[in-house]
Amino acid sequence: MSLFRCPICAAPLTRAGRAYTCPNRHSYDVAKEGYVHLLPANQKHSANPGDDKAMIAARTAFLDGGYYASLREAICAAVSAHGGHNLKILDVGCGEGYYTQGFSQLPGAEIAGVDLSKAGLKKAARRVKEAEFAVASVYHLPVADQAVDVVVDCFAPLALEEYRRVLRPGGLFVYVVPAPQHLMEMKAVLYDTPYPNPEENVEYEGFTYVDIVPVTTTFALEGQAPIQALFGMTPYAWKTPKAGVERLGQLEKLTVTADFRVHVFRREGCNNPSCVL
Ligand SMILES: C[S@@+](CC[C@H](N)C(=O)[O-])C[C@H]1O[C@@H](n2cnc3c(N)ncnc32)[C@H](O)[C@@H]1O
Ligand SMILES: [Zn+2]
Repeated sequence: MSLFRCPICAAPLTRAGRAYTCPNRHSYDVAKEGYVHLLPANQKHSANPGDDKAMIAARTAFLDGGYYASLREAICAAVSAHGGHNLKILDVGCGEGYYTQGFSQLPGAEIAGVDLSKAGLKKAARRVKEAEFAVASVYHLPVADQAVDVVVDCFAPLALEEYRRVLRPGGLFVYVVPAPQHLMEMKAVLYDTPYPNPEENVEYEGFTYVDIVPVTTTFALEGQAPIQALFGMTPYAWKTPKAGVERLGQLEKLTVTADFRVHVFRREGCNNPSCVL
């Protein structure tokens, strides 16, 4: 069985060899890297939606340096502490699967990831062979109602209605966001007036707060390669004035603070699928 459902008729999908099929004979080929395309044409708003090759390459280069390993460990620890074992975990906006790889180490976990970016999924499917990956939007998840125990959203768009729909009651929603001091030293190089991110603890309807885990780490980036890799995976890469980009390009070393919050929520409601609570 698969955690995915047919995007046309919503029946369960089964993977057999190089294709996923549903009982109504809709069939989806598995790409050579191992992911499947489940995004209907009417949900595709550009030829190559999601993060492009350059952003994915920057993120892969940086994350593989291990600078955010403590964040991955903290997310996995929060999932285990509040969710237990043998979990069905859906990584929404999974990118190239760095965090997905962490979940695959949890005992008995069954993992799926979705993202709009084919470039991301090519990497993810190679990186985490034991998980399944689909090109799909977080706003139209190809996943049945109440089918998963955990939804993890790391720096991806927030699609609360869909997360509520696919999570079983009592399941966990883990939302990872940048915190006030995140990359402040880099922002201070790029901008004349760097602002901290807002600290936001929002009560989302249908979810109860379980925990907020702060993760703060400081590391030195030696040389331009890791500095540019980090810059390239941030939104600053497309909104920084030229002077700031030039200042960054002259640095030989940059010590940076990464500051995150792992927000853990439990989905409220009863087990009856028709119940709207
Ligand atoms: C900042 S990246 C985070 C990637 C990954 N979770 C990580 O932390 O390394 C945001 C990701 O969301 C994806 N994305 C953007 N809009 C999306 C949507 N509507 N549905 C699915 N993925 C989306 C992008 O392609 C990108 O891979
Ligand atoms: Zn179908």
